[in-house]
Amino acid sequence: MTRPCILTEIPGPKSRSLARRLRRAESPNITFVSQEFPIFWESASGMFVTDADGNTFLDMTAAFGVSAAGHSNPRVVEAVCKQAARLMHGMGDIHPPTVKVELAEKLAALSPGNLSHVIFGSSGAEAVEAALKTAMLYTGRPGVLAFEGGYHGLTYGALQTTHREDFKAPFCPQLGRFTVHAPYEASFHDLSLIEQAIAQADPPIGAVLVEPIQGRGGILVPPEGWFTALKDLCACRNILLIADEIFTGFGRTGRWFASETPPDIICLGKAMTGGFPISACIAPEEIMSAWGESQGEAVHTSTFIGNPLGCAAALAALSEIEDRNLVARSEQAGCYFKARLEALQLSHPAIREVRGRGLMLGMELRPEKEGGCRASRLMIEALRRGLIVLPAGPNDQVLELVPPLIISGEEIDFAVESLGDCLQAVGL
Ligand SMILES: Cc1ncc(COP(=O)(O)O)c(C=O)c1O
Repeated sequence: MTRPCILTEIPGPKSRSLARRLRRAESPNITFVSQEFPIFWESASGMFVTDADGNTFLDMTAAFGVSAAGHSNPRVVEAVCKQAARLMHGMGDIHPPTVKVELAEKLAALSPGNLSHVIFGSSGAEAVEAALKTAMLYTGRPGVLAFEGGYHGLTYGALQTTHREDFKAPFCPQLGRFTVHAPYEASFHDLSLIEQAIAQADPPIGAVLVEPIQGRGGILVPPEGWFTALKDLCACRNILLIADEIFTGFGRTGRWFASETPPDIICLGKAMTGGFPISACIAPEEIMSAWGESQGEAVHTSTFIGNPLGCAAALAALSEIEDRNLVARSEQAGCYFKARLEALQLSHPAIREVRGRGLMLGMELRPEKEGGCRASRLMIEALRRGLIVLPAGPNDQVLELVPPLIISGEEIDFAVESLGDCLQAVGL
């Protein structure tokens, strides 16, 4: 295995200089800049990222869960280069690029159950909004039930369904009022909490939007059977169940999709292309037909809908996941990783819990007053040791471990040892 290689202080002088330049040219709330953060990525390959100062890091984030088949996967790069030379942009909903047809067919073949008809988008949030619109048209009921801790994106429609108050508070006067939130973890053993929220909702609920495993909420895994019971509960009330698999989709959890039974609509993004902004909302023909036949002017479209570079990238990324058995690999590597983290927990009581499925793992730390520390403290320590990790969860208590699905056993060993060193460095 290539090992991370740290040559400078972190961040190095070039990253610091780039941060100063960015401060002068970018809205100040976008990129977090401090004495200890960020490093500027210059290149990446497989599991490794090289920054502007020549430091090399092992990536335990897959860059927000995107680079499932590894960074700059050669097959994806080749497909994008070939496509760029042929056709970089088409007229998505007017004169579509040929690869859009291929990708729509491929997604229909891969999707669970009878999910067969796609609406493409450019971001996860757009896929969620396409799903909300589809459900509204099909059921005629505008209300949406989403979950506490849920994250579905930050554009205005999706933002309403996202739970975190800090994302929403400044914009409340411009947000609609169609979403109610039910408890997520508490409902794992008490579905009546969801039934009550549906019964009391105004406007009436037409769709339930759920992450089959909550990612940014802190890697929360419902017990076996919960998702199926939720689907049944929805079916009895003619409510559509929308699974937001933008994070969990395409092998992340050791299965192609984390939904244990086919949902009515699925939202996909992130790992679909391994690095190009394209997303998808997929529903059965019967549900998608609620849009009606286009009469020449699409009711829902955008300039880059079904962009050919994105479609080519996705076709290559999905073939790579299939041909290299990355779904099974995610399951196996995830079991090994989890066991190693559980062993680490034995010698570090500051770790409260290790949880997750496949390569979607979370390590929850005890709060400071109980002898733990914030996850972002560990993130900084890890960066200095050549490991890129991110915090998750509402209270900065969970370290999210979602590496590319190609991670090797040695790389897992290195990551776990480094995390042990980080805990020791902060006195835990
Ligand atoms: C489950 C889930 N849904 C939706 C989104 C939003 O995707 P995007 O940031 O591409 O809009 C994310 C992003 O992290 C996510 O994890």
